Amino acid sequence: MKIISTKQNIISHLKKSANVGFVPTMGTIHKGHLSLIKKSISECNKTVVSIFINKPQFNQKKDYKRYPRNLKKDISILKGHKIDYLYLPKSKDIYPREINKKIKISSLKKILCGKSRPGHFEAVVDVIDRFIKIIKPKKIYLGEKDFQQLKILEDYIKKNKIKTKVINCKTVREKNGIAFSSRNALLNIQQKNRASKIYKLIYKSKNKLIKKKITINSIKKQITLIGAKIDYLEVRDVNKFIKPFKKNKKHKVFVAYYLDTIRLIDNI
Ligand code: PAJ
Repeated sequence: MKIISTKQNIISHLKKSANVGFVPTMGTIHKGHLSLIKKSISECNKTVVSIFINKPQFNQKKDYKRYPRNLKKDISILKGHKIDYLYLPKSKDIYPREINKKIKISSLKKILCGKSRPGHFEAVVDVIDRFIKIIKPKKIYLGEKDFQQLKILEDYIKKNKIKTKVINCKTVREKNGIAFSSRNALLNIQQKNRASKIYKLIYKSKNKLIKKKITINSIKKQITLIGAKIDYLEVRDVNKFIKPFKKNKKHKVFVAYYLDTIRLIDNI
């Protein structure tokens, strides 16, 4: 695994590579990230993983500051896999000038996380667009854990006729049901137990919620009793995120909540 920290270097290393798989991350590598990486390695000739904590996509300074950072550990985990390049760009490399204020994304930005995180998805699309221009991957690997992010990026890539294929990767979960997430590193044991209870509650109520045999409000009340503050809890048809919509229905429950000051999201 070659560690590369400049744009020129990664471009010159990838010059002759035709089948490049790209896994963008913000580090604190976990089994969710590793599943994307393994998929890329199995499908592509070269795999590039990036670690870049993209400041503009954070809505609050405090959230950016306390976002977990574990570069040494990340490098040692990643060395155990057959990754070709680990790209660790400096901010100046990605943003030589200011952020792109002209990024246009789909109306999907208005729902779910978009409501409480203005500008967040524009910043995610901006940074991924910049990475794609540098790396020119054949495939980009994205997790369903961040379903709205995945769909917004898929839509952007399609509308802008970018020649990179989006590969959806299933959510990987801990034994207690909670989805692996870098933010889990911020949770104490009690908060983890609460997150696990919320996952189990939604999992067992999912079908009844979809069939409207129980109300969203009744589950919201139970989540509040577990000790979380809800941002949203919604049932949505995953085939109705980007056009052309598929006819068959496939519903999922989307949730975002705060455990004290830590915001977690999931879709089940
Ligand atoms: P990050 O949270 O580090 O996630 C990197 C990738 O890993 C994303 O595609 C995310 O959906 C996926 N992922 C995270 N947890 C997962 C899990 N439990 N199972 C499967 N996949 C999982 O998402 C970001 O970073 C950033 O927004 C980024 C796309 C890198 C842009 O800055």
